[in-house]
Amino acid sequence: MLYIGLDLGTSACKLLLVDETGAVRNTVTKSYPLSFPQPGWSEQAPEDWWQAVLAGVPELLTGFDPAQVAGIGAGGQMHGLVALDEADRVLRPAILWNDGRTASQVDYLNGQVGKAVLSQRTANIAFAGFTAPKLLWMRENEPELFARIKKIMLPKDYLVYRLTGVHATDYSDASGMLLLDVEHKCWSAEMLAECGVTEAQMPRLFESWQPVGTLTADAARALGLPESVVVCAGAGDNAAAAVGTGTVGEGHCNISLGTSGTIFISSDKFGVDPNNALHAFAHADGGWHLMGCMLSAASCNSWWQDQIIGTTDYKGEEAKIDPDKLGRNHVYFLPYLMGERSPINDTDARATFIGMTMDTSRADMTQAMLEGVAFAIRDSFEVARSLGIEIPRSNICGGGSKSALWKTILANVLGIPLDTVATEQGPGYGAAMLAMVACGQFSSVRQAADALVRIQSTVEPDPALVARYNDRYARFKKIYPACRELFPQLM
Ligand code: XUL
Repeated sequence: MLYIGLDLGTSACKLLLVDETGAVRNTVTKSYPLSFPQPGWSEQAPEDWWQAVLAGVPELLTGFDPAQVAGIGAGGQMHGLVALDEADRVLRPAILWNDGRTASQVDYLNGQVGKAVLSQRTANIAFAGFTAPKLLWMRENEPELFARIKKIMLPKDYLVYRLTGVHATDYSDASGMLLLDVEHKCWSAEMLAECGVTEAQMPRLFESWQPVGTLTADAARALGLPESVVVCAGAGDNAAAAVGTGTVGEGHCNISLGTSGTIFISSDKFGVDPNNALHAFAHADGGWHLMGCMLSAASCNSWWQDQIIGTTDYKGEEAKIDPDKLGRNHVYFLPYLMGERSPINDTDARATFIGMTMDTSRADMTQAMLEGVAFAIRDSFEVARSLGIEIPRSNICGGGSKSALWKTILANVLGIPLDTVATEQGPGYGAAMLAMVACGQFSSVRQAADALVRIQSTVEPDPALVARYNDRYARFKKIYPACRELFPQLM
């Protein structure tokens, strides 16, 4: 039997073909454009996502028997608002997770409705990327389009809809809408009313591994697959990545260095960060998790290397960094290229290099950029620690984790060992595992993780370097508070 895992990312859709032993048999990546129509805005056309799947699946199956495909699962970029009209046509480009246009709606929700009320209804407060503030923005700025909304869904749910014809979502992804009562796993009637929508406009809720349906005749024909292929509800990309690295059950941690940077702490029990700096979401294994999300992680690296210094040789650039300089750099970088979510929740925050002198080299600045991302992940890590959560080690995944140097920096900035699993493929692998559970190959997500996930390598922290980075982090922490008042004045 074969299973397809879809990772609907921000820059591309990565498709994975996995067999019943868990071996990855083929991968295909199809990229699509991301548009920034105004500063701080971030949009994508849902049709581009579907076209990526239409082009990608036949390529993925080249040399394989399509009749062997039993299931499909999708993990996708979270929070994006996809609005459909009564004929299920997309009403406007999707407003993505890293879009910062909703500052005033976030202020209204957190200030007028109140953080305590939001947290009691949904276990979370408002952040600019979340879906509810986007609905308020649409109601205020595009009232005619808003009035035509028949269904609301999240990015990967749009793929599931195109595959099965069913409007569905799963609890992990729905948690990031600020419309779900995360503890009780049902829509919050108060939050729906607050945003001027009804339950009929919401997709049906499923656990991530539950089958939503099978392929429609049209989708089967277009993809060259049998109609019997089962499609499961799937998960938000962070929950899917956590499943793929075996971060399930109580007290495990996964760090993802993708376009965004996240720290994901899984739990069997529902729990809320009393200050709501970390998100409290449902997990794709049936439990819950706390998560900190920084908006620009690996994207700082691609911005710096591709756009600013003009190279695609990331390895060559990193090779110029003197290992002796780790923990001794006096150049610092705030990684807030898209504003920031966790833990500072500031859409006005901006990226900054600071501390350069005449002897500062290009390598120092590359190092500062890698370190700045690691320090910003530590900011969320410290919030978790302050809640008494012990994180003795973590898994790591995502494009940025392919860099041995970045992993070394992060392990020493956090002071913990970082494990990489053998099948590290980001959210796509976890999504394929969810499809396996949907098809009965495993009886639970945890059973699938126990059977399929193995640690391949570990980066251990070095106590001397940890001490140096503790000192550097203490200085880094002072930069944002010193600049905070200035950032809004720079626009
Ligand atoms: C999580 C988040 C990002 C996106 C990236 O809250 O916004 O990690 O899911 O795709």
